Amino acid sequence: MRSLVSLFGGSLATLLLTFVHIHLASAASVPRYSDLEARTRADLNTNTVRKELGSRLSPGTLIFGPSDERFAAATARWNMFAPPQIQIVVQPGDEADVSKIVRYCNDNSIDFLAINGGHGNSVSLGTFVGTQISMASLRNINIQANRKSAWFGGGVYGGLVTKYLWERGFVTTTGSCDCVGLLGAALGGGHGRHEGLYGMVVDNIRQLNVVLGDGRAIRVSPTSNSDLLWAMKGAGHNFGIVTSFELSIFPRGPDTWHYHNYIWTGEQLEPVFTALNHLHKNGSTPVNMALNFGFFFMNASISATDPILSWTFAYRGSAQDAEALLTEFNSIPAVYDERGDVPYTQVSKVQGNAEDDFICQDGNKRITSTAGLQVYNLTAERLIYDGFRARAITNPILAAGCGILHEGYSTAGVSARNPDDSAYPFRSDHHLMLFNGVVPPGDPALEEQAWEWANEVKDMWNAGQPTRTENNYVNYANGFEDLETIYGREPWRLQRLRALKQKYDPQNKFRFYNAIIAEPREGKGKGKGKGKGKGERRLFQG
Ligand SMILES: Cc1cc2nc3c(=O)[nH]c(=O)nc-3n(C[C@H](O)[C@H](O)[C@H](O)COP(=O)(O)OP(=O)(O)OC[C@H]3O[C@@H](n4cnc5c(N)ncnc54)[C@H](O)[C@@H]3O)c2cc1C
Ligand SMILES: *[C@@H]1O[C@H](CO)[C@@H](O)[C@H](O)[C@H]1NC(C)=O
Ligand SMILES: *[C@@H]1O[C@H](CO)[C@@H](O)[C@H](O)[C@H]1NC(C)=O
Ligand SMILES: *[C@@H]1O[C@H](CO)[C@@H](O)[C@H](O)[C@H]1NC(C)=O
Repeated sequence: MRSLVSLFGGSLATLLLTFVHIHLASAASVPRYSDLEARTRADLNTNTVRKELGSRLSPGTLIFGPSDERFAAATARWNMFAPPQIQIVVQPGDEADVSKIVRYCNDNSIDFLAINGGHGNSVSLGTFVGTQISMASLRNINIQANRKSAWFGGGVYGGLVTKYLWERGFVTTTGSCDCVGLLGAALGGGHGRHEGLYGMVVDNIRQLNVVLGDGRAIRVSPTSNSDLLWAMKGAGHNFGIVTSFELSIFPRGPDTWHYHNYIWTGEQLEPVFTALNHLHKNGSTPVNMALNFGFFFMNASISATDPILSWTFAYRGSAQDAEALLTEFNSIPAVYDERGDVPYTQVSKVQGNAEDDFICQDGNKRITSTAGLQVYNLTAERLIYDGFRARAITNPILAAGCGILHEGYSTAGVSARNPDDSAYPFRSDHHLMLFNGVVPPGDPALEEQAWEWANEVKDMWNAGQPTRTENNYVNYANGFEDLETIYGREPWRLQRLRALKQKYDPQNKFRFYNAIIAEPREGKGKGKGKGKGKGERRLFQG
């Protein structure tokens, strides 16, 4: 314990200590191998690792510690609420290095974590202390001769893949945000603008090269370790490091996409959500109406008290076809209205989630919650809006940092798949929600208020669908939710995942991302919530 305190300062140490306390308080069946040993080599400095490990790795490999000027950028996080604690960064120059790095870490009882886009949001990442394996140099892309698939390095990210393929006449399934690691998203399902046509990213994974927790490099495909392929498609972060993978690709389609962005005031909330429900028809969205999403947030130039409804629509095809589907929206008086036609590679820019956009920015402390919906409930959305408005009046600093995100993909390609064929459990969710509250550092009272709000909004979303269960997309989960709400309620799902875990990662080396087996959640201590996400955050109050 004491050595942990010496590693970190201030409130972060308290936070981590609380985690460690719960780790120790709740004995699980999984061996705990690292807590103490890792620290016995805390003396293991960058130079020693360079000497011992560097000589075994490919020439392009980088190894550096906190004093290196590259460290800050390499370890930057989208969410600073509970970032992983990185002692050293190893950036393999070649995929064959990954296996050697894992073996070296195991030999020295050091935990390791693959990092790509740095957008992982779960509080579980904050329990990690050890070596970051940066995937950033593994970005090869090879389109196969039959032009139906491509091999990608384990470090590619959405924007890179989209541009590379588009310029060569292809598209594939990626996340919608350019900055997000393709695999970070894919291993949990992967929602993006082509899912209406082609399904989620997991639906297009053909095979993967995976390094297991013991350092073995294996092929995971329909003919090799095929049981693991099912798990990689939705719960993959629990099982290995993907060093490369083969994904289906498709002819790129129309040269331009149409976009239409609106800002409405709160008075228009009911007509807007009515129109959204009409457009989506409970999971029957026109397939080319690829993605719309909208935020409630403050725009001071419009109102100091009333959050705006800022919505953006992207359509795979012509303005004429798109606008025919948007007539109901066009009849709602807007305070801002912008439309145009751009190549697919620029759709993220006009929708506000390109690499340099605000939503991609690192370094903020964020309080989040999520929900999966089928249709929008107007009563619930009005309650959520009014709750926002009340904060804008009484707590403007809190309100100014908050965005309440509503996503509506076209989902035909998602629903078309047999839900049992992958570990992604939520194919009947058509809308993905995210409460995203940026809070300034060092203001625990405000943070507490943000948690209260995040949980309130989540509860309102779920109360708005009383006949459905609470579902939390693993990649939007904050890490406090019950496992069944992340990996699926059907008992066979977690049973199967746990059995595969025993087979492929018996030492539980991959337990830092909404882990299927993670001591803090398994215990009967104070970390276990009563459901609905309430109360769990008491973890941090010790
Ligand atoms: C701004 C923003 C936009 C988003 N948009 C979308 C979206 O459109 N669609 C969607 O589905 N999700 C989206 N997400 C959620 C996103 O899928 C997750 O945050 C994802 O975990 C991010 O992956 P990363 O590589 O960027 O993050 P990291 O923090 O680097 O990684 C997240 C987790 O993935 C693991 N991981 C990363 N690379 C590998 C690898 N090669 N092998 C094994 N494990 C690996 C890491 O170990 C870690 O546990 C978004 C998130 C943010 C913050
Ligand atoms: C939406 O469709 C599902 C079936 O896919 C159905 O169970 C549900 O009741 C529908 N919801 C509404 C509000 O019509
Ligand atoms: C805020 O509103 C103005 C219109 O008054 C608009 O031009 C601007 O783009 C809005 N900003 C954001 C971030 O929505
Ligand atoms: C909509 O939400 C309200 C408020 O939570 C709830 O009472 C109502 O039952 C919901 N309506 C439907 C159709 O689910």
